[in-house]
Amino acid sequence: MDAHSIFVITIWLLSLLFLLSQTNAKVHYHDFVIQETPVKRLCNTRNIITVNGEFPGPTIEVNSGDTLVVNVVNRAQYNVSLHWHGIRQMRTAWADGPEFVTQCPIRPGGSYKYRFTVEGQEGTLWWHAHSSWLRATVYGALIVHPKENHSYPFAEPTREIPIILGEWWDANPIDVVKEAAQTGAAPNISDALTINGQPGDHYNCSSKETTTFPVKPGETNLLRFINAALNTELFVSIANHQMTVVAADASYTKPFATSVIMLGPGQTTDVLVTMDQAPTSYYIAARAYSSAQGLPFDNTTTTAIVEYDCGCATKPGQSIPPAFPALPVYNDTATATAFAAGLKSISKVKIPEPVDEHLFFTVGLGLFDCHPGQQCGGPKGTRLGASINNVSFVFPSDYSILQAHRQGVPGVFTTDFPANPQVQFDYTATDISHELWQPVAATKLYKLKFGSVVQLVLQGTNIFVGENHPIHIHGYDFYILAEGFGNFDPAKDTAKFNLVDPPMRNTVAVPVKGWAVVRFVADNPGVWLLHCHLDVHISWGLAMAFLVEDGDSELESLEPAPVDLPPC
Ligand code: C2O
Repeated sequence: MDAHSIFVITIWLLSLLFLLSQTNAKVHYHDFVIQETPVKRLCNTRNIITVNGEFPGPTIEVNSGDTLVVNVVNRAQYNVSLHWHGIRQMRTAWADGPEFVTQCPIRPGGSYKYRFTVEGQEGTLWWHAHSSWLRATVYGALIVHPKENHSYPFAEPTREIPIILGEWWDANPIDVVKEAAQTGAAPNISDALTINGQPGDHYNCSSKETTTFPVKPGETNLLRFINAALNTELFVSIANHQMTVVAADASYTKPFATSVIMLGPGQTTDVLVTMDQAPTSYYIAARAYSSAQGLPFDNTTTTAIVEYDCGCATKPGQSIPPAFPALPVYNDTATATAFAAGLKSISKVKIPEPVDEHLFFTVGLGLFDCHPGQQCGGPKGTRLGASINNVSFVFPSDYSILQAHRQGVPGVFTTDFPANPQVQFDYTATDISHELWQPVAATKLYKLKFGSVVQLVLQGTNIFVGENHPIHIHGYDFYILAEGFGNFDPAKDTAKFNLVDPPMRNTVAVPVKGWAVVRFVADNPGVWLLHCHLDVHISWGLAMAFLVEDGDSELESLEPAPVDLPPC
């Protein structure tokens, strides 16, 4: 064969390979009907909002590279929108979901088709409502498997078990948040925590329905933990079994063994567990990591049961109670810190640099003065609030920011979000002057050039009370370069950056009265919300948004808006 024919054949083979890799990608269609469904928990039946009558909602499974088309029909009485938490939504910000940010909500009777491709991400993500507090009951797992014929970077597990941690109110959660908004007081805490929708053995009227996972001796199983709770960071542990963490937020990690994991709302953690103990039953238990001193929290414990099926004839009714795991105490910051420090990317990463945008955001609570003539239920007659760089984010109520941006509609938002706190102070001191406690309410965005490298210092404050905040970014994953306590000091803390194998996540649990430094490349045009994933804090304004401009080419630009985008 001459050189030319070899060349032609090679090109031909390469094209064929390319085509094959393309045709492997599938399009998955789902119908999600938002509806009211009676569900009994804690001895009472409540009409909750569900997807297709299921609680938790349906699990979506795709292979990396696949496209999802989810037709959402709203048959409930509330406005709704759905968010695909952790999905990058490259060029498809229209499908991201936060109401009044990338779309107006789907009104009762309306519908919208979310259409997007999942690319370059593998592991456990999830979807949830992104309107008011509907995500209390409207959520489900979104599992991204490797591309077909690709494998995990660990031995194939026998079973894969999604474990969604949730939070239950023995009340209508929408009423709970509405009442709090009216009074300015903190919303009521939840009445139960749940595992796959069930509180478990330790709650009234709940034993029979306790979630049970059948396993066989010797198996190694992949447990996909998702914290879908509204307002509670959670420790999770399994009696007598070690967990080996292999991924977090759909990015692989260096395997590390631990007896306890901590997930802030929004975070996911994949662990391998080998069923190597005496063949009986073991509790998986979860309860709060509560870092805010003196604030009320749901201190109950949810459980599920891992049950060995060994054919070893335990007679029904004679089984001994399952072993219970040791859980850290509620304020065990040392354990939460050790867990975060254990997470590293699976291999050496190419850190984006040089940094084009150095941002420093304070994140924390605040107190608003009560409107004159009104009675407020917050501390000392105030209204509770929260802010980033002292700006308390106000969601538009009749337009979406992304539409306003694309259509050039003025008056919906401004782009003067401050890159740094306007007043510098000792952010984590115990005696922060009360003059610094009152944030300014506004809809401010920060503009980023396409492709710019962003380094963001998230600095927790001790205003009113310091607390660990799970800060989530839409449309991106970021590298977590370092975390620490007290005030971030560039002179000494820059040396602590992990520039070798930092973990990549979409949600970072910023240490209580401490800081975290994250880095990402602004390579996805659109409007992207950054917020605390404790919903109580979003309601108070702990959010902001980035406006990432289009790049030069079409492939670097936001797609046109879908024709069925819900009208505002
Ligand atoms: Cu799960 Cu705005 O996020």
